[in-house]
Amino acid sequence: MTHWRIRGGESLSGSVRVQGAKNAVLPILAASVLTGCETELQNCPRLRDVDASLAILRHLGCRAEWDGDTVYIDSRGVSGYTIPEKLMLQMRSSVIFLGAILGRCGCARLSMPGGCELGPRPVDLHLEAMRALGAHVECVDNVIDCAADGASGLSGATGLSGAVIRLALPSVGATENAMIAACAAKGATVIENAAREPEIVDLAGYLRALGADIDGDGGPVVTVRGFAPRERVRYRVMPDRIAASTLLCACACAGGDIELTDVTPGHFAAVTDVLGAMGCRITPASDRVRIARSGRMRGGGTVVTRPYPGFPTDAQPLLMAASLCADGTTVFVENIFENRFRQAAELRRLGALIRTEGRVAAVTGVERLRGADVLAEDLRGGAALVTAALGAEGETVVKDPGHIDRGYESLDGTLSRLGAHIEKYMN
Ligand code: EPZ
Repeated sequence: MTHWRIRGGESLSGSVRVQGAKNAVLPILAASVLTGCETELQNCPRLRDVDASLAILRHLGCRAEWDGDTVYIDSRGVSGYTIPEKLMLQMRSSVIFLGAILGRCGCARLSMPGGCELGPRPVDLHLEAMRALGAHVECVDNVIDCAADGASGLSGATGLSGAVIRLALPSVGATENAMIAACAAKGATVIENAAREPEIVDLAGYLRALGADIDGDGGPVVTVRGFAPRERVRYRVMPDRIAASTLLCACACAGGDIELTDVTPGHFAAVTDVLGAMGCRITPASDRVRIARSGRMRGGGTVVTRPYPGFPTDAQPLLMAASLCADGTTVFVENIFENRFRQAAELRRLGALIRTEGRVAAVTGVERLRGADVLAEDLRGGAALVTAALGAEGETVVKDPGHIDRGYESLDGTLSRLGAHIEKYMN
């Protein structure tokens, strides 16, 4: 198993470009099967979740190739509508293919995505959205079977009809599945209580480039009026706001002065607002942001995770790491996922003072953290361990960092370029 050995205590400096957004590229890759077309997708990050998506595309009959940071997809050869369990289990968010396969083929069969380390990951809102568009949906023996009335299979009408879809929760994935499937529906679709994340806007941008008449994305009501598919589309994926937040928190932990380029600072303003209040000097510009931290930080007050534009749940573990040596207390309220304080137990092994009670975690800042052996158990929690280790005295070994590769393109390489001492080795 690979481990990362991190020597803490070195401040960070320099400038790095931030990767393309994992949570934008995954729904866009799914949407590329909606119609037979050639997609040139630029600024694609090299991630395990992207590789899992490409495996699904190839299984469906697409050609999908890398060329540098561009992925070429030819979806004219789609010949299937099922995703086998072994491919579904490689990536929890593969349910995002549901709307695209249903929209293309008029039917879809996927195994239920497992829960994940964050807790149960229900898909009821996804299935309700497909039913609202006229699909019959059955879940038997952990398999989701979707079929639209009057569907004529792989070509021709898919039997979906435009509808008003009222989401009980502003679910990112359910909003994305609804937007994608609605492009194949006859008549207009209105999605109410839609998620407003920047990744929704990026997916809408790709769908527009593909020929969709769609608006309202980024707000609570998204309307899809029609779809005149183009045969070729070139699109550039937005920058990853959570990867940017991770590097900002790494500098807050380690100290120093770094610049992140190819970012949209407005996408992670909720994170920089807290880091600024804690004493970091944040200097945003149009496509870059600079952060400097020299003296001790202050506690971050109460940080409540909410749907966008609230504080993002994905950055909560990273900000928790940054708060561990701040003077005072930082309280986290996690409203999105049940089990998103997993990193707390491993952070305590570094000497952190963290009390958790249900969805609340209280961090009391300590003088110094001490290096220790810790185990990465999920994507953002693993990144939080690496981040905290940068500010710890001595050596930390992060075991099983493979989770981190799901969402970060060479996080160890990026941090090393900023001056961190990280050595990857097999044990
Ligand atoms: C997306 O997950 C992201 N993943 C997550 O990022 C992110 O944390 C999350 O949105 C919230 O921003 C991708 O985009 C691939 P949701 P998603 O549906 O779509 C409940 C990361 O670390 N819910 O907005 O699965 C659900 O249980 C990952 O990059 C239902 O009840 O999130 C959760 O409590 C982790 N029924 C809440 O809604 C449903 O049908 C928000 O989930 C769907 C969701």
